[in-house]
Amino acid sequence: MSNPTIFLLTFMLILTLLVRSHSIIPSRYDGFVYRKRAASTATVLIEAFYDPVCPDSRDSWAPLKQAVDHYGPTVVSLIVHTFPLPYHDNAFVTSQALHIVNELNTSAAYHLMSAFFKHQERFYGAQTSNLSREVVLDEVIDFATSTLGNSMQSAIKSGFNDSRTNIKTRVSFKYGCSRGVYGMPFFFVNGFVIPFDDSKPIDYNGWKKIIDPLTIKQHNLSN
Ligand SMILES: *[C@@H]1O[C@H](CO)[C@@H](O)[C@H](O)[C@H]1NC(C)=O
Ligand SMILES: *[C@@H]1O[C@H](CO)[C@@H](O)[C@H](O)[C@H]1NC(C)=O
Ligand SMILES: *[C@@H]1O[C@H](CO)[C@@H](O)[C@H](O)[C@H]1NC(C)=O
Repeated sequence: MSNPTIFLLTFMLILTLLVRSHSIIPSRYDGFVYRKRAASTATVLIEAFYDPVCPDSRDSWAPLKQAVDHYGPTVVSLIVHTFPLPYHDNAFVTSQALHIVNELNTSAAYHLMSAFFKHQERFYGAQTSNLSREVVLDEVIDFATSTLGNSMQSAIKSGFNDSRTNIKTRVSFKYGCSRGVYGMPFFFVNGFVIPFDDSKPIDYNGWKKIIDPLTIKQHNLSN
């Protein structure tokens, strides 16, 4: 390609991104704030992009949760974003369930996310390959209700009928794309990406190795 062509294509791409990004900016920062800890620049901020039906997301959750709980609210805060991978069955509908529940009660969203991780095989592969979208939706609603209590049923049901929760789930996904998320799990610490290595998931000690140096006051600014 000639230079002017590349220039023109780049220009058009940037223009498209700018126009698009204006229309999808949500009214509040995307994601589920763990334990309602104010996620601020006063803490180490961890962001996790998770797919509720992804086994690698599931495996990484327990050590991350353990580490976040270990440091406590004044040191570390956590935001989970959903990122439904296109090659995982029912990733979008389970992600939407989390957005619906998060609107009602953020702790319940974390509770439901753990439950999805624990019973992933019910929503994945052969288990649902035979089922219609509608039947799967009913199963997700039943699962969420039995996990969180019958009092949530009608709210969850009508949540799926509300296009705003669908848009929220899309926005989460688009946000992940805009930050270069391409697999699971994907983590950022204070906005910087943790290099992706799916052969070596981060365990509790791995998180400590990442977080410990950040909690020591950095006097030596020459580094
Ligand atoms: C929110 O969800 C949590 C966990 O499921 C539950 O313990 C708590 O009672 C709920 N709070 C409200 C106000 O419903
Ligand atoms: C799919 O449906 C067919 C026909 O109802 C049934 O024979 C088959 O066992 C089902 N497969 C699974 C994996 O449920
Ligand atoms: C969903 O929306 C349709 C049409 O707007 C309505 O008929 C139906 O009762 C709604 N269902 C729930 C559970 O809110």
